[in-house]
Formats: sequence, C-alpha cells, structure tokens
Amino acid sequence: MNSQLTAMDEEHLRRALELAERGRGRVSPNPLVGAVVVRDGSVIGEGFHAELGGLHAERSALEDCRRRGGNPAGATMYVTLEPCAHQGRQPPCVEAILEAGIGRVVIASEDPSEKAAGRGPEILRNGGVEVAIASGAEATAARRLNQPFRKHSRTGMPLVILKVAMSLDGQTATAPGDSPWISGPESQELVHKWRAESDAIAIGIGTALADDPLLTARIEGARQPVRVIFDSQARLPLESQLLQTLDQAPVLVTTAPDAPADRLGALKAAGAEVLLAANLESALQELGRRDLTSLFLEGGQTLASAFLTSNLIDESRTFIAPMLLGRQPNSVPRVGGDDREDSAGRRSPRSETGPARQTAQWSSTKTIGPDTLITATYKEW
Ligand SMILES: NC(=O)c1ccc[n+]([C@@H]2O[C@H](COP(=O)([O-])OP(=O)(O)OC[C@H]3O[C@@H](n4cnc5c(N)ncnc54)[C@H](OP(=O)(O)O)[C@@H]3O)[C@@H](O)[C@H]2O)c1
Repeated sequence: MNSQLTAMDEEHLRRALELAERGRGRVSPNPLVGAVVVRDGSVIGEGFHAELGGLHAERSALEDCRRRGGNPAGATMYVTLEPCAHQGRQPPCVEAILEAGIGRVVIASEDPSEKAAGRGPEILRNGGVEVAIASGAEATAARRLNQPFRKHSRTGMPLVILKVAMSLDGQTATAPGDSPWISGPESQELVHKWRAESDAIAIGIGTALADDPLLTARIEGARQPVRVIFDSQARLPLESQLLQTLDQAPVLVTTAPDAPADRLGALKAAGAEVLLAANLESALQELGRRDLTSLFLEGGQTLASAFLTSNLIDESRTFIAPMLLGRQPNSVPRVGGDDREDSAGRRSPRSETGPARQTAQWSSTKTIGPDTLITATYKEW
C-alpha cells in the first residue's frame, strides 16, 4: 500500500510507468524512466528516457510542459525512478527540477546504484521540495521494469533470462535436418522482440554447431544484441553464420583459460572478441564490465543446466508447443565440427552440470498462437 499517496497519485505514477516502457531496448545500460508533470489535477507535461545519451525523463517532461505553454512552478512531478543527482551523459535531473520550481515529487522506486542511492531525494528535500516515495503496486511495477539495470547496479552482472522451447513430451531438440524451431511463428516473433530488448544473447557451442544460428533480432531498425558463445575450447567454426555476419552484430566467444592458443588467434583474426573466464560467474562479471545489463540465454540444455547449477538464472520464459518430438539421438552439426566428439577427443559435455531445483517466486501463463508461454521469476533485484 502507498501510505502517503492518493488514488490520483497512483494513477499518474501508472501513466509514468507506461511512458517509461517506451524506451525499452534503446537506453541500456541506463534505466527505463518515465515522468509526468501535473498541476491542479491536469497533466501539463509528459516525458521518458528515449535513447542512451538523450534527455532524461524529468527534463523531457519539463520540456514538454514548456512546449505546451505550461508553467511547472509549484506543480507535482511523478517519476518512476529517483531523480539523478550526478553528472553523467546528461546533467543532474535534480537541478532541472529545482530550477523549474516543482513543488512536489512522487517517486515510484529508488535507484540502487552507488552514485544515486537516495542522494537525489535528499537534495530535493533540502531544496524545499516535498518528496513522497511509493511503496505499493506502483513501486513493485517500477522495480520490475528495471530488473536488468537494478541487478547490474547491485552485482555488476547482467540479468539472466533463460528461454526454452519444448514439446509436450518435454523435448528441446528436433531431429537432425529438421528446423530447430519448436515454437510457432507468433512465439518466434516474440523471441525476436526479446532479442532486440536484450543487451546480449548467449548460446553454448553445442547449439552453435548443431543449428548454425544467426541470433540477430529480425526487426526493422532494432538495436542488435551482442552474440555470446560459451565455447570453452574455442571450437566455433570460422565459416559459421555468426562469424560471417559480424557486420550485423558483434560476436563474443567465452572460452576457458586453457583453450588452444591457435584457435583463440583464429577467432580473433576472424573478428570475434575473445574472453577468457574460469567459470560462468566470472564470465558474467566480464560481460557486466562491458555494460551488458541483460543476457538472453538461448542455448541448449547443457548450458541451461550449468547456469541453473551455478544459481545464475533470474527469470525463465518457456514455450510449450502442441507437438510430440520423441527423444532425439545426438544431433548432427549443421556447420563445421561434431559436438559428439571434440578436437580434444572429449565425448561428453562438461560434467560440472547436475541436478538443481529452483522454485519461482512468481509465474504467469499466456497463450501465444498455438503455444503456451510460462514466465517465471526466481530472483528480484
Ligand atoms: N528448444 C530450445 O529452446 C533450444 C534452444 C537452444 C538449443 N536447442 C537445441 O539443443 C541442441 C544442442 O544442445 P546442447 O546442450 O549441446 O547445446 P548448448 O547447451 O547450447 O551447448 C553446450 C556446450 O556449451 C559448452 N560450454 C561452454 N561453457 C560451458 C559451461 N560453463 N557449462 C556447460 N557447457 C559449457 C560445452 O562445450 P565445451 O565444453 O566444448 O565448451 C557444451 O557442450 C541443439 O539440437 C539445439 O537445436 C534447443
């Protein structure tokens, strides 16, 4: 419950949340933020953070207010995240709020990053502005809106969202030669949208060899995510579609420190970025250091189990398609090598994976074309 807020306050905050959504896929590593300026119950300005390096939501709402000929002095500003107090790509928002003479600021969620953490609200209060912080449904919605930003701010790692598509008999791989897609066209369209919203997409070398995927977001004008391949021995074939399409999106190969030097050299010469990491957590830390705040995990069961065993999955999105596939024999690679026996003569994937159980904090179910989509959240940041 929002103890300090009225029903009208909550309604304006919900509008600010709607506006914030419009920046999705365009502002990372910054957070999504929306703002509304209200005087005597009427909206006199609206704004959101629309692109990285562009105006913050608060300044954009104040600009809108001026454009409409409104006067923000004494008005209330509703904003989904505490206004920033630091100089970044843009000047501090608290300065703009104080200069505009805003009388009251209603904030839906706090900013957990070190440079913020309550400084903005304090400066506003010291400047004579009344500040109210939401605590009810709008606060929860504001936190959920910015899970990648919040996890990255708090841990330095990207939010990990696992995507799985499975048949009614629980299979996730199709027969050799068959299309690798299990879910229907509507679900595939959604997957492309999620790719465009992610900073990075990841698969294991098993999927890279079996499916030779592109992993781009097939949406006109979409920002393309970095394509990350977990490939401990640097086996990614130079003729793979991934390496042949570096003009479309970068490829980052995560290898073990003992990967063969000649293979590492070949991948770098082909234009891939190579990252040496001892385990999944240090790989995620490295990705976070590159300002990647979300990782959409689209690999096969081996990599998914490894993430699960290391307790690194924050959310899952599982499509269940109305079909039976039967258990598939080891798939035949569509490119380069053979994942049944690698160049080092190893027959089975890494043994560090194992059974693990994680129960969702909350989940929801939706129908997408012929498929059922179950979204589950394991950790909230
Ligand atoms: N239905 C779906 O949602 C879906 C999604 C993707 C793929 N698939 C299907 O899954 C099949 C491929 O399955 P897969 O399990 O082989 O693919 P995968 O999980 O994408 O790749 C597995 C490989 O990743 C490498 N790897 C690198 N670091 C790892 C780590 N820390 N832990 C575990 N593995 C690591 C391992 O090879 P190294 O030890 O050599 O590094 C391992 O063999 C294909 O048929 C594909 O079509 C289905």
